[in-house]
Amino acid sequence: MCGIVGYTGTTKAARILLDGLERLEYRGYDSAGICVSDGNREHPLQAWKVKGRLQALRDATGNGEQVPGFSGIGHTRWATHGEPNTENAHPHLSGGGKVAVVHNGIIENYQELRQKLEGKGYVFQSETDTETIAHLLNEYDKGDPIDAIVRTVMHLRGSFALGILFEDRPGEVYGVRRDSPLIAAVSDEGAFIASDVPAILPYTRKVTYLDNMEIVCLHKDGLTFYNMDGEPIEKEFTTVSWDVEAAEKGGYAHFMLKEIHEQPKALEDTIRPHIQDGKLVLSELGMTDDEIRGIRRIQMAACGSAWHVCMTAKYIFERLARIPVDVDLASEFRYRDPVLEEGTLLMVVSQSGETADSLAALRYGKAQGMLSLAIVNVVGSSIAREADRVFYTAAGPEIAVATTKAYSAQLAACYMLAMHFGLVRKVMAEEDYLRHITALSRLPEQIEQILQQEARMQWLAGKYANTRDAFFIGRGLDYASVLEGALKLKEISYIHAEAYAAGELKHGTISLIEKGSMVMSVATQHDLLEKEISNMVEVHARGATLLAVTYDGNYAMEDQADFTIYIPKTEDVFYPSLVVVPLQLLAYYVSLARGIDVDKPRNLAKSVTVE
Ligand code: F6R
Repeated sequence: MCGIVGYTGTTKAARILLDGLERLEYRGYDSAGICVSDGNREHPLQAWKVKGRLQALRDATGNGEQVPGFSGIGHTRWATHGEPNTENAHPHLSGGGKVAVVHNGIIENYQELRQKLEGKGYVFQSETDTETIAHLLNEYDKGDPIDAIVRTVMHLRGSFALGILFEDRPGEVYGVRRDSPLIAAVSDEGAFIASDVPAILPYTRKVTYLDNMEIVCLHKDGLTFYNMDGEPIEKEFTTVSWDVEAAEKGGYAHFMLKEIHEQPKALEDTIRPHIQDGKLVLSELGMTDDEIRGIRRIQMAACGSAWHVCMTAKYIFERLARIPVDVDLASEFRYRDPVLEEGTLLMVVSQSGETADSLAALRYGKAQGMLSLAIVNVVGSSIAREADRVFYTAAGPEIAVATTKAYSAQLAACYMLAMHFGLVRKVMAEEDYLRHITALSRLPEQIEQILQQEARMQWLAGKYANTRDAFFIGRGLDYASVLEGALKLKEISYIHAEAYAAGELKHGTISLIEKGSMVMSVATQHDLLEKEISNMVEVHARGATLLAVTYDGNYAMEDQADFTIYIPKTEDVFYPSLVVVPLQLLAYYVSLARGIDVDKPRNLAKSVTVE
């Protein structure tokens, strides 16, 4: 989603803004702009905006060199209101350059505000909701910027993170947020605001996360924070644990490929700190054994791949901890008026910790009195801060739009929680528990082995890159895994791909299977193997090209499949962690073969901060 960078300091702002925006490119965008304040000009605030990639903005500004001034705001826009074009690109100015604004989020009452502002004579240049904010700020600016910001945000419904410049406050940049992320940081070079940490990493690792309805002013002496009463407040700073290299490609062609290869480390870092003397230690979670024994049901909610983690986790928790689990898409959960019994634990899974629907699901569940537990990757994110209990995955920064290592780390977190719950509730025998811990600890090295098949996956991808329709089938836990396999393929290759529980095919979908259809069958669950093979026979007989993923030594698959990918053997419950790796590689190389920008597929954004 949109990216915001703001800076004031001793270095020329334009270059810092452009570099910062580049580090936020992964969030997805379709236009970009900067506005820099230069007190030496007759009109200090000047904006440069382009449709398309950031490179066009670099070209238009001589890589920032043609833009004088030491404070400014920059933005990459992911279009919501109005098509992606220069007029709709941010920053938006009001009063002929009295105020400039960049915005992430959606203003729900912008039509109403627009009408009122037009009534007062304001002329709109764009179709965006953001322009109303610029005009409101102009309207309320009577010389006190904090007062103008407070009055303005009081009129806004919806979500926003804002970066603001005032013509008559050269050297100052303002930020404020509600339900869209904004961080602030300071270094020897100056002070910053940004949507996410990578933007400021080359300058500092010390950051603070603005809370809802907090205002920050960047100025020559650093940062000052204010509440909505306009009173200065103190904020705590945290040190980000990863460095600038972690957010760079490190020799890989794409972030996605790098992140696929980082999975052994992501799992190791997520699992290892929780294993002591061969047992799981989850004391950091802060859940007492009584709390765990008191859980009668788990309600999970998430979006996209994180929802697939929940679909997998349903099998895992039910099998290992014998707790019934319901899984909802976060965007549906609160609208279906769910029946939430006492003793229900709400689990929200999110890499970014900022996904608007997941955050709303968390708030809804908490408001119904549920105890909440979040599995989150980004430390200090909104979901992490608002959940009662947090399990942090240690995947490090995930930049590629399509998730890989965060997905795997989320799965690892679910395994650990389910095993721990199973042991505490005495439904998992000690010897099974220990055997499962051994299997869990081996996953990083087993993923490493699968990654050695990369060249084979590339060859396979080249062969099927022109496929029109792909179907992913599996049963039980394999069904949960194919949901992710199909999403990976479709989102970055634009090939139509669907996932089906293999047993469901004949209830309609099989009519779509014809010569040339690609069917990927995942078959790892021992008790379901024969049935899965029967389903493979059915599609093969109808002319589909059949690919399969199964465990080492299960050569019976080759009787049906045109191509079989083998993964190392493990306990049945852990196969989802291994299966996903060849499916990610397949998607990556198909996308590459089709000439698509793998890290930035069309229309997609990394952190979906609007509903
Ligand atoms: C797909 C993908 C998305 C995210 C979803 C949730 O590859 O990355 O489907 O999984 O947008 O994002 P988070 O986990 O940040 O809440």
